[in-house]
Amino acid sequence: MAETDPQEILAQARRYAEDLMLFEGRHFIVPEEVVLQASGLGEKEGFTSEEISAAEPAGRESVVASDEGLTLDAFREEICTCTRCPLGATRNQFVFGSGDPNAGIMFVGEAPGADEDQSGLPFVGAAGQLLTKIIEAMGLSREEVYICNILKCRPPGNRDPQPEEIAQCEPYLKRQIDLVQPRVLCTLGRFAAQTLLRSDLTMGRLRQSEHRYEGIPLVATYHPAALLRNPQWKRPTWEDIKKVRRLYDGVAL
Ligand code: URA
Repeated sequence: MAETDPQEILAQARRYAEDLMLFEGRHFIVPEEVVLQASGLGEKEGFTSEEISAAEPAGRESVVASDEGLTLDAFREEICTCTRCPLGATRNQFVFGSGDPNAGIMFVGEAPGADEDQSGLPFVGAAGQLLTKIIEAMGLSREEVYICNILKCRPPGNRDPQPEEIAQCEPYLKRQIDLVQPRVLCTLGRFAAQTLLRSDLTMGRLRQSEHRYEGIPLVATYHPAALLRNPQWKRPTWEDIKKVRRLYDGVAL
């Protein structure tokens, strides 16, 4: 019988434990090396603690952010009857976003689907339920993060968003980001990442690099709907999500 490498057994046990966390919604446990990095003893390549602190906006405690005293709720009121693109005529509900207006993590998806269009809330269908599990596996709740989309209205039949729709809607997202001032952005799926990063790279390539959007660290990962179709992408997604958590915790990657 081939000899089994104890390091490999340990690595496998870790992978199983992480899967359990992902699927059972167990709480995120900060690995020992991350604690070492936080204490400045083990910085590796990637964002340094200093970079992360530098990216932290001042005064995040306030609901009223830097944007001339505008609150997120007031902004929603201002734009929720939008008809700047044709989706304004076909939507049932405007899906602004939900969560903590001062969240440290902001998830950005593509566009509302049928369930979201009915409820007015982002990520409430099957993909949304998986996103909820992922957030809980990070040791957080949906109420502690902020969730929104590039488009605020459902494209009919869930077709791909059109350039003109993005052009009209993206300024709303940009303003939301200014108001929430998250420490880290996590884009869900190729479409959100490509839009915010002005890139046409594939999801696989985008995942491999570190990004910033207007100075805020941005982690690009797979869309939960894609994970439902391709469960083999759950492991790489979990690796991305751990990066999000570390950036949120303010420790070097
Ligand atoms: N897919 C998205 O990208 N956003 C939602 O809100 C729901 C599904």
